[in-house]
Amino acid sequence: MKFFIDTANLKEIGEAEQLGVLDGVTTNPSLMAKEGITGKDNILKHYVDICNIVAGDVSAEVNAVDFEGMVREGEELAELHEQIVVKLPMTRDGVRACKYFTDKGIRTNVTLVFSPGQALLAAKAGATYVSPFIGRLDDISTDGLNLIQEIREIYDNYGYETQILAASVRHTMHIVNCAKIGADVMTGPLSAILGLLKHPLTDSGLAQFLADYAKGNS
Ligand code: E4P
Repeated sequence: MKFFIDTANLKEIGEAEQLGVLDGVTTNPSLMAKEGITGKDNILKHYVDICNIVAGDVSAEVNAVDFEGMVREGEELAELHEQIVVKLPMTRDGVRACKYFTDKGIRTNVTLVFSPGQALLAAKAGATYVSPFIGRLDDISTDGLNLIQEIREIYDNYGYETQILAASVRHTMHIVNCAKIGADVMTGPLSAILGLLKHPLTDSGLAQFLADYAKGNS
């Protein structure tokens, strides 16, 4: 499973990259705003800065909601850097724009996906990635992981190559469960990735090893 980090914070991206397990980055307009990145030129520069830190795919989201606007913005984003993947919303115009970019060989990530039918449409339009938001479904008492399972089944039935990018991952067990189901990618906060490291028996075992080594080598 590929690990993406879901942030526009350059420090966190650098920290995850340093760990050696990072395969890419996802951003969205809210994450950019959270970092205080505003204005077209600053936003475009920030995407390039992210591409220069991480070796993998970097999703950059369009802000237009009409087909022509999405095409215009998406083409500009794609030209920024070869690592850029154009992120499009799951709307009628977004699906149309996805097909447009697929035909042009530009990679896409269809976002804000909350149902298996939406994921099927994204695959039909040739999306590189589909982003089902599991945390936001959990927030409204709906099983987000079940959606990943349903999409996996549909894609496997027909051999769709669209990669399932489990998004809105909130914690470490989301990552583990997505891996069990067979999500191709997960995107989440650095804290969820670092949570995978933790086990109390690792900590106590290491403390014991260090203590025993110190006894014999002091
Ligand atoms: C996906 O690409 C989105 O950026 C993200 O995962 C949304 O997560 P949230 O629900 O925690 O805002």
